[in-house]
Amino acid sequence: MCEIRERIRRICKEKNAIILAHYYTRAEVQEVADFIGDSLALAQQAARTDADIILMCGVHFMAETCKMLCMDRKVLIPVLSAGCSLADSCNANELHLWREQHPEYKVVSYVNTTIDVKALSNICVTSGNALKIIQSFPKEEKLLFCPDRNLGSYINSVTGREMELWNGGCHVHGRFSVQALKTLKDKHPEARVMAHPECGKDILALADTIGSTAAILKAVGEAENSSVEEFIIATEPGILYELRKSYPDRTFFTIPRLDSVICNECEHMKLCTLENILSTLENETPEITLDASLAKQAVRPILRMLELSK
Ligand code: 13P
Ligand code: SF4
Repeated sequence: MCEIRERIRRICKEKNAIILAHYYTRAEVQEVADFIGDSLALAQQAARTDADIILMCGVHFMAETCKMLCMDRKVLIPVLSAGCSLADSCNANELHLWREQHPEYKVVSYVNTTIDVKALSNICVTSGNALKIIQSFPKEEKLLFCPDRNLGSYINSVTGREMELWNGGCHVHGRFSVQALKTLKDKHPEARVMAHPECGKDILALADTIGSTAAILKAVGEAENSSVEEFIIATEPGILYELRKSYPDRTFFTIPRLDSVICNECEHMKLCTLENILSTLENETPEITLDASLAKQAVRPILRMLELSK
């Protein structure tokens, strides 16, 4: 393990490569990365890096977003097929039809989307900036929001807007067991519940804090000086690596899925391993390649988002 980590770090130095990793990846992947973050921070980091090679440890839409922001750089991902059920839940042809049926509406798309969907969007959001960006639109502006119905209805409930929502969702966040959460809360009545807005409304209704992975980490940090010692985390358990590292004296619980025989992890995020990071860096493949004119169109809503997130 130690040797492979050293080889990865050595090759990064030789090739001026940077490793970006999402909080849901394996602990050993987060450990070897140069930068760990939520979707927003990963996009911001991609936009500002001067590395020649960017290796994205995450899922495909993250590497694709990164490439759109760095078309002159080599963007690698250890497993090209690392998908996302949320991104898969929105097909560009259907979105095109939806947009045609609502000509007076603007399209806001979550960053968990394909390049084709982004190309049809007016602006992108992540869970880290969705509220701020939606609130930047005049109240009377009509909005279509895709693809996550849970994040969309959470924003509607907080802002009082009535965005039309696409009926998409994440298979991980959509299946946390409300009953298991209630049982955990009964056992640990002092615990704070931190939930990702991709969770269903029954889970969100029981949460003390709702936010992106980075917002959850920040909220736990803010509770550091209080008497709260236990936290129930309603998101993908990969985030426990950073939580336990940053707050070793706190206790964290995650929520099992409804069908508790299957674990509550995002299998796509776990595809990235130290072994495939090393071979990807050595061979400089798999590489993300994009059609230049499509990328030019699809990067616009991302740049608008980054501008409003400053
Ligand atoms: P974050 O933007 O909070 O990192 O979430 C990304 C994601 O895929 C959540 O499932
Ligand atoms: Fe996509 Fe869900 Fe995995 Fe996040 S947790 S990458 S939304 S499938």
